[in-house]
Amino acid sequence: MLNDYEKFKTDVYKLTKIDLSCYKERQMKRRIDSLISKKKIKTYDEYITAISKDKEMLEEFVAYLTINVSEFYRNPEQWKLMENEMFPYLFSKFGNNIRIWSAACSTGDEPYTIVMMLAKFIPINRVRIIATDIDKQVLAKAQMGIYDEKSLKGLPKEYITKYFKKVGGTSYQISEEVKKCVEFKQHNLLKDPYPSGCNMIVCRNVMIYFTEEAKKVIYKKFNDSLKKDGILFVGSTEQIISPGDSGFSTYKSFFYKKM
Ligand SMILES: C[S@@+](CC[C@H](N)C(=O)[O-])C[C@H]1O[C@@H](n2cnc3c(N)ncnc32)[C@H](O)[C@@H]1O
Repeated sequence: MLNDYEKFKTDVYKLTKIDLSCYKERQMKRRIDSLISKKKIKTYDEYITAISKDKEMLEEFVAYLTINVSEFYRNPEQWKLMENEMFPYLFSKFGNNIRIWSAACSTGDEPYTIVMMLAKFIPINRVRIIATDIDKQVLAKAQMGIYDEKSLKGLPKEYITKYFKKVGGTSYQISEEVKKCVEFKQHNLLKDPYPSGCNMIVCRNVMIYFTEEAKKVIYKKFNDSLKKDGILFVGSTEQIISPGDSGFSTYKSFFYKKM
């Protein structure tokens, strides 16, 4: 029904710097068309005019198209591996001052999980994580640090007891000492310069939305961001088909080592 998606992509890029041609097209177009029809808007041009004038509508659009579902300790098996094997590996390779980047961190569940786990190994006041996402709304939520019990359902009780306070019926506030360890920044994986000198990059459940070409570029940039022997931790449906092409070898399922 809606036509001229090519022009729409160019207009969206001008407005948001989000390059829709790097996202899998069928899936993305279906989502966008469904949002636009719900608003009873008939053409892409009309929608672009509307979001150009209305900041809230623009933010709603960005939040909608970036899909930001997250939870603490998502895929527990991988986090257990992180605790039992990956952190000991990183400390043995790099010492105690490790630099970790949580890319596409959404509402902060992932970087905060890393902090709580790292604090089992080193004093919490020495833990520093960089956490980035393209979507300002999720970053604001991350900085607030208030979560519904649903996002904590998989998190081991020991962390909930130690680092959360119940605030209201089903909400929990994460402690200041955990919040202080994370530096949140807006960052577009498709466009912005990447941090350098990382010992580990955690980037999960976003690569699935990108085209194969975009993924290749991103893996290469992750590789450049890591120190030699540094680790890239990916999502449970995001195994890299030919890791060697981007300078990685498989260390464990979902964990890749920079060669
Ligand atoms: C499904 S969430 C994953 C959150 C978390 N990593 C996890 O696995 O629970 C995907 C996140 O990717 C972010 N995202 C989408 N496109 C992005 C881009 N080009 N650059 C940076 N972040 C992006 C979204 O805003 C969203 O918060």
